[in-house]
Amino acid sequence: MADSPISHHSPDGIQQPPQTDPSNEQRAQMEQAYQQIQRKMRISKMDEGIKHKVMVLSGKGGVGKSTVATGLALSLARQGKKVGLMDIDITGPNVPKMLGLGDADLNVEDGQIFPAIGPHGLKVISMAFLLDGPDTPVIWRGPIKLGAIQQFIGDVAWGDLDALVIDFPPGTGDEPLTVSQSMPGIDGVVIVTTPQEVALLDSRKSINFAKTISLPILGVIENMRGYTIRGTAEPNTKVSVIGPSGVPLECNTDEGGNWTLTLDVFKSGGGEASSIDLEVPFLGSLPFDPGIVRGGDDGVHRIIADPEGETARAFDSIVARITEELEGGSDQSLRIT
Ligand SMILES: Nc1ncnc2c1ncn2[C@@H]1O[C@H](COP(=O)(O)OP(=O)(O)OP(=O)(O)O)[C@@H](O)[C@H]1O
Ligand SMILES: [Mg+2]
Repeated sequence: MADSPISHHSPDGIQQPPQTDPSNEQRAQMEQAYQQIQRKMRISKMDEGIKHKVMVLSGKGGVGKSTVATGLALSLARQGKKVGLMDIDITGPNVPKMLGLGDADLNVEDGQIFPAIGPHGLKVISMAFLLDGPDTPVIWRGPIKLGAIQQFIGDVAWGDLDALVIDFPPGTGDEPLTVSQSMPGIDGVVIVTTPQEVALLDSRKSINFAKTISLPILGVIENMRGYTIRGTAEPNTKVSVIGPSGVPLECNTDEGGNWTLTLDVFKSGGGEASSIDLEVPFLGSLPFDPGIVRGGDDGVHRIIADPEGETARAFDSIVARITEELEGGSDQSLRIT
């Protein structure tokens, strides 16, 4: 009992005043209050320093949200924009690994956290940086988790940014709600989906969630749409390939004998259909690309490994579409108020 911060009894049983120095305690409380005020001020100023803030959501897990959030940020950064990427997934933060920043150390100065620097100067912040190791589970519930997220938002020294991309865990839980309520001036939500029907049903929940919290929906991105195969044969002839479902697919070779076929790994066009259905913009598709999986494992994002490839180009065109909307857009009806 001698070490208990609560009970302080003398040998004769008479209760003594607490042994902590009250002035120290007061000082600690003042320090905490001061930090909270500073955090609030920094959060309120985020709108001035960061031009655009975009949240990346999905209803279902594993649809490629982190891959897409990282790809969007890298695509912008390689165009010379100042970009930040915030990984708010507390239980499974994997953005740093995708960028080869798994071992990065963060600098903390004057109570502010300085982001790690990734390819093309991309500023990255992730809960993963604050955990003991990649296998350490985080079991933070309710208020502690929310407090950590708020601290995360208010204590990071982003500097001036053209865009901040925010990656979330799947679903419509506490994290996107807390961020949307704590961070000023969020431009909108991008929803990632795969073409399967189930993922689509779940993405509808994300769309409705964004509507409920009055955030504009910038659009839907369909990930893992088709897998492209290529080959050569006799010029100007027909080529037949057995597709994944056993159905033969046919195409013609060109003058040089080259042929290209895109196989729908999942049912195709679901993301597009759902965006039309729900009257939200369709931002584009990303191909099913085994190089993305390899890149994720090796810590080199596909955009970096193959900057001119199909996936990198698909990211660029999605970014162009998002930028168009953010910079005023042609269709103001996209804004949900
Ligand atoms: N277009 C793609 N082609 C092939 N594999 C992909 C593609 N997009 C993502 N993947 C792979 O799918 C897996 C899940 O991707 P990712 O971690 O980005 O999903 P997530 O939605 O963020 O998952 P979680 O819900 O767990 O956060 C990873 O192994 C990733 O490499
Ligand atoms: Mg993820």
